Amino acid sequence: MQRHSVMASHVLDPKHAARHATATATATATATAILATAFTAFAFLPGDARAEAAAPANSQFDAELITQLKGMAPGAPLPKEGQFVHVPPTMEDLEEADLHPKLKETIRRGHDLFINTQQLRGKNVFNDMNCASCHMGEGRLPFSSPVWPAAVVLPNFRPKNGHVNTLEERIAGCFTYSMNGEPPAYGSDDMVALAAYHQWLAKGVPVYQPGNTMYGRGFPRLPEPELKPDAVRGQQVYEAKCAICHSADGSGRKQDGNVVFPPLWGDASYNWGAGISRLFTLASFVKHNMPLGQPNTLTDQQSWDLAQYINSQERPQDPRYTGDIAETRALYEETFHKHSLYGVEVDGRVLGDHSNTGEKPFLRPEWVFKPRDFSARRP
Ligand code: HEC
Ligand code: HEC
Repeated sequence: MQRHSVMASHVLDPKHAARHATATATATATATAILATAFTAFAFLPGDARAEAAAPANSQFDAELITQLKGMAPGAPLPKEGQFVHVPPTMEDLEEADLHPKLKETIRRGHDLFINTQQLRGKNVFNDMNCASCHMGEGRLPFSSPVWPAAVVLPNFRPKNGHVNTLEERIAGCFTYSMNGEPPAYGSDDMVALAAYHQWLAKGVPVYQPGNTMYGRGFPRLPEPELKPDAVRGQQVYEAKCAICHSADGSGRKQDGNVVFPPLWGDASYNWGAGISRLFTLASFVKHNMPLGQPNTLTDQQSWDLAQYINSQERPQDPRYTGDIAETRALYEETFHKHSLYGVEVDGRVLGDHSNTGEKPFLRPEWVFKPRDFSARRP
């Protein structure tokens, strides 16, 4: 078990979360008011889920660690015996670490790119996202796809593209789909900085730690819903609990040109190839992370219904698009689209049946179909 000092109250503290949400924006009256309302609701939640689970007796995990995890991911499942728990180091820990000053500078740059990826807007990013929009708490939080696992399981084979991927290539994947963009070149200063930040978060974790034993990795699949997920029910929850920040039309909110609340659909959101366009992934993200400051307060059913509603809205084209929606869906059905509504008819229109690439002036970055199977070496 890997342990690092971390302030348990770090993520729980509404002031911190508010600061985090508006990190790249000037705090203004509207945003502050919305956040204040959201967090007041949180503070007075009845039967607060945070206090529920206690550390099981004779556990491999001590009470202090359990308290720490509850602070990071209030209401989330606690680790099961045999799971590998890692609390990633913070940027404050970095200052104390025995690393070369140049490496620290690189890691700080990676952290800055991760939380404010909008600085690469128009070059590598063509939507309103930051990496931290989905990998919350600076990519450190369990159940918010913390990014450290990638640094210790890669290189490895990835079914999504059918070859052995490096850490840089995994990061490139999120640039291509989640950021609807084009990754910084492999080996470039920005790519190296991002990779270094991921590796810093993985400090002390054994390499090739089996992925399926890692506590809080990814957006783990929720139990199947009782009722078939329904977009109409999803819309009702959306209007009651999400629209205040993400807008009724899903376009999010900006203040003075800065993104305060990221869009959930439309041209400035993630594209049809993004991992979160899969229903089970979005349902899990929502359950464990939203509404902001009130994670794990929705029911599983509400989370599935919300995913059904949000992911049946339009968004930029999948960069793997061949020009034919049915063909593209069929090509990636098994490895991906059987979990999305891409190419599916909803309310009389086939989702994804368009050539809109959003703000991005091209469909697909060069690297996407690059094989890595040693074929170049064959006679
Ligand atoms: C729109 C949401 C979204 C954004 C924005 C996003 N990602 Fe991701 N990311 C995901 C999803 C979904 C996964 C897959 C999680 C799973 O498998 O459950 C993922 C996985 C990853 C992983 C692999 C984690 C692991 O467990 O192996 C890394 C590394 C990563 N992202 C880095 C980034 C970086 C760097 C950025 C910014 C350039 C970024 N992501 C932006 C949604 C996003
Ligand atoms: C108090 C404001 C607030 C509320 C309410 C809220 N969100 Fe969010 N949401 C955010 C912020 C801010 C982020 C980006 C994360 C960050 O910067 O920490 C985010 C990120 C997201 C993302 C990932 C990024 C993206 O744009 O796709 C999704 C999906 C999402 N929220 C869905 C929801 C859903 C569904 C609800 C309602 C159950 C909801 N949110 C309620 C503020 C809010």
